[in-house]
Amino acid sequence: MSVTDRIEQLEREAQAAAAAAASTVAIEELRVRYLGRRAELPNLLRDVAQLPTDQRGAVGSAANRARKEIEALLERRAGELAVAELEARLRSERVDVTLPGDPLPAIGRLHLITQTRREIEDVFIGLGFNVAEGPEIESVHYNFDALNHDPQHPARAWTDTFYVTDEVLLRTHTSPMQVRAMERTPPPLYLIVPGRVYRRDSDVTHTPQFHQVEGLAVDEDITLADLKGTLLEFARAIFGAEREVRLRPHFFPFTEPSVEVDVSCFACSGGLAAGGERCGICKGTGWLEILGSGMVDPNVLAGVAANGYDPERVQGFAFGMGIERIAMLKHGVSDLRLFYDNDVRFLEQFA
Ligand code: PHE
Repeated sequence: MSVTDRIEQLEREAQAAAAAAASTVAIEELRVRYLGRRAELPNLLRDVAQLPTDQRGAVGSAANRARKEIEALLERRAGELAVAELEARLRSERVDVTLPGDPLPAIGRLHLITQTRREIEDVFIGLGFNVAEGPEIESVHYNFDALNHDPQHPARAWTDTFYVTDEVLLRTHTSPMQVRAMERTPPPLYLIVPGRVYRRDSDVTHTPQFHQVEGLAVDEDITLADLKGTLLEFARAIFGAEREVRLRPHFFPFTEPSVEVDVSCFACSGGLAAGGERCGICKGTGWLEILGSGMVDPNVLAGVAANGYDPERVQGFAFGMGIERIAMLKHGVSDLRLFYDNDVRFLEQFA
């Protein structure tokens, strides 16, 4: 076969192969096969110089023309295939923006303190209480004076309390909202107040900032029995339907009488664990202290008598609990500081 015939044959071969190629990748392979450094046609061109003089012109121009033809042909075919590939991709990746959303499941979970706060709120909302929040930066008036604190009360000391100025402090409890709420709303009043409180304390069982939920109920004919019944409902909702509560005498400046409230231990019976040994949770007493409370002191009501809180006409009970304490008891958390380390291995346990 003459060299020019071979060149024509190569051109026809390349044409057929390009027509059969199904992708731009296949075209790249053909480019290498027909025009690459080791392909036959470029080699022919390179060897033209070695041909007899009378053949050089014809072979050279035939090979050159064939190379240009094949180049153009592959280029054209690659273009067609690229368009087809893009169309196929657009078709397969089409997004229907009218479809309803498919949100990812939530990552993470609520902190145990938030979970516990909400759980406590739900119980009292179910009992007819409203939920309110109050300022964390509070006046000495609302934090102490209006709550019947003696001028010498130890909690007033700068060693116990964070003062901003002589008259302004970080609230040491949620109780200031008792007076704020009574100033704002006439009786009857059924309110709980969750929020952060601050004390200059720091050890295994105390952090300078922690959380409380205040409760206040003021109405006609409210008695200590209402307090006990309400807290029994609460204790059973949080710690189990079998629980009992007991009241122990105590002192708070703003309640009279004042009581501390215990719930019967949920981990043992009467202080004895299943194997007969002393219960580690309640230290063998059978009871767990959960909060402080009492009947609203008439001196506190007298301060807001103008808004309908005449102590001769209405009575009330109040209570205050630590959210961390409730969560620790309920979930067996041994160290208060775990709540604030935010180690996910701890947090993840409370789904
Ligand atoms: N404020 C009190 C405390 O922080 C708790 C309390 C609230 C007691 C309401 C009685 C009534 O310790």
